[in-house]
Order: sequence, then structure tokens, then C-alpha cells
Amino acid sequence: MQLGILISGRGSNMKALIDACAGRDYPAEIALVLSNVASAGGLETARAAGIKTIVIDHKAYPSRAEFERDLDQALRDHGVELVCLAGFMRLLDKDFVKRWHDRMINIHPSLLPSYRGLKTHERVLEDGVRFTGCTVHYVRPQMDEGPIIMQAVVPIDDHDTPQKLARRVLAYEHKIYVESVRLIASGNIRPRGNKTASKGLKF
Ligand code: GRF
Repeated sequence: MQLGILISGRGSNMKALIDACAGRDYPAEIALVLSNVASAGGLETARAAGIKTIVIDHKAYPSRAEFERDLDQALRDHGVELVCLAGFMRLLDKDFVKRWHDRMINIHPSLLPSYRGLKTHERVLEDGVRFTGCTVHYVRPQMDEGPIIMQAVVPIDDHDTPQKLARRVLAYEHKIYVESVRLIASGNIRPRGNKTASKGLKF
């Protein structure tokens, strides 16, 4: 399965996917890494791995629709079959989301549907919850919503800081993103209504 990875920053989830795709028997390849930010650190990582990169700077467009039209075109031109959002910091309009319905996934650093949005680690620590985690899900028009593919649970320590917690959660993000793409690309999971149906989770 051909992947298109969308990033805006350091791209550590993207790197986890690059490493997985380099492995034997992994059922996906990266067709393209695309960023809306020319200075995104992840672009250098992708180039160093010999992966095609494109920058489409949203600030150069008069409207979101025109930006997304070019985004869509680039993904199609490169034969992308599954779009992986990996720290892509632009909200996508419902027309774009509809075009990639069931063919676009996202990673979020909380146990959805709790803690949608930004600053998840700060908020879980403020609330004093004992567990947090991360979620990979199919993308729907509402932010951080959509059928859940995989989650990992991370216990919270009494002396956690947002930075420490972010580091521990991120290590699990890398694992569940790689395993989620494996499940999709091998045809072992599919969306069913607002949930997913799987033939067996390996993680
Ligand atoms: C991750 O925490 C991801 O869950 C969130 O944005 C961050 C991106 O990190 N959506 P990276 O660029 O993959 O390192």
C-alpha cells in the first residue's frame, strides 16, 4: 500500500513509519512526505532516507480550498492510497476529508475520545487522571474524531511533567502507528460505522 505522510514538524512518527517500511514483509511503502512548513525538521529526515518530499505552504494560498486542492493533487499524482497525518498542524476541510474518507488516518496523544485538541499532557496532569495514552483513528470532519484503530495505555507517575509524559507516550505512538498501518495495509481492519472491525490485533 502506498502511503502519503503529512507533517508539520519534527516527524518522529513519520520516521517510525519510514523504518517500518524499510523492513522485510511490511505491507506498505512511502510514496511521498508532504509538509505545509518548509522548515519542518522531518523533511530532512525523509530526504536523508531517499524519500520524495514536497512542501505546500498554506500561507502562499488565498484560501483553504485552494491549498487543499493542491494537497489532494500531489497525493493523487504520487499514487497515494492511505494518507497518514503525523503531526500535521492544519485542520482539513470536510471536502478534503470526504475525498479521503476511510483512506486517511491520524495519531493523537491521548486516549480518545478524551482530551481532543492540543496540550493533552498538560490537561491530563491537571485533571489528575491515572492513565493516558495515544490513539490512531480514521479521520472524520470533526477534529480528533473517527473510528479508532488502535490505542496504547500509559500509566501516569506521581512526579510526571508534561515533557516526561510526552516522551513516554511518544514511544507508544511510534509502535501503534506502525502496527495500525500494518493492519490496514494487510486488510485486517476496516471501518464499520463509527467503530472498526478487525481480524485480530497483533499489538
Ligand atoms: C505527536 O505527539 C502526535 O500524536 C501529534 O503531534 C505529535 C507529532 O510528533 N499529532 P512527531 O512530529 O511525529 O514527532
